[in-house]
Amino acid sequence: MNVNDPDYLKHFFGGNHWKTPETSRKEYDVIASEISNTERVLDVGCGYNLLKGRLNVVGIDANNPAADHLIDLMDYDAEPESFDVVLALGSVNIQPFSLVKQQVDRVIGWCRPGGRIYMRVNPCINRQDTPDNAYAWQLQDIVDITEQYGLKIIKPVTLTDRKRIIWTWQK
Ligand SMILES: C[S@@+](CC[C@H](N)C(=O)[O-])C[C@H]1O[C@@H](n2cnc3c(N)ncnc32)[C@H](O)[C@@H]1O
Repeated sequence: MNVNDPDYLKHFFGGNHWKTPETSRKEYDVIASEISNTERVLDVGCGYNLLKGRLNVVGIDANNPAADHLIDLMDYDAEPESFDVVLALGSVNIQPFSLVKQQVDRVIGWCRPGGRIYMRVNPCINRQDTPDNAYAWQLQDIVDITEQYGLKIIKPVTLTDRKRIIWTWQK
C-alpha cells in the first residue's frame, strides 16, 4: 500500500486533514469510559489521536501527523494479538470489499483473544458526506465477519444520527 499515492485516501484530506466532527469526540468519550488504564489500546486510523494522554494507546494513521505512527494499516507491523482493545472508527471503508476484508483481518488479528474491537463504518446512506470510493457496509457483512472469526457482538449494532454503524466485538 503506497501512502504517497495521491489518489489513495484522497477523500480524507482534499488539501486538509479529515476534520473531527463533534459526534466522533462523543464516541471516543464513551469508548474511553469502557477501557481501563491497564489495557493496551491500538487506534487504527486514529485521526487526531483523541485518546492520546488518556489511555495506554498507540494511534496509527495514513494521513494525520497526530498519529504515533504515520503509516497505512496494511503496512503496520505489530505482533498479532498484542492489544487488549483495537479501534477502527471510520478507517476501514474504502472500496473494493476485498481490501476492506484484508484490513478487517488485520484489525481483528491485532486483538488478543477475549479482547474488544470497536468499529464504526459507513453504510453510505447519506451520500452527501460520503466519498465516491467508500464501500457501503451492509449488516450482512457484519454478520458474516462475526461468524467467520467466531466473534461475539457485545454492544448493539447501532445506526447513529450521523448514519454510521457502530458496534463492539469481543474476540
Ligand atoms: C473518518 S476518519 C476517522 C478518524 C478517527 N478514527 C475518528 O473517528 O475521529 C478515518 C481516518 O482513518 C485514516 N485511514 C483511512 N484508511 C487508512 C489506512 N488504510 N491506514 C491508516 N489509516 C487510514 C484516515 O487517514 C482518517 O484519519
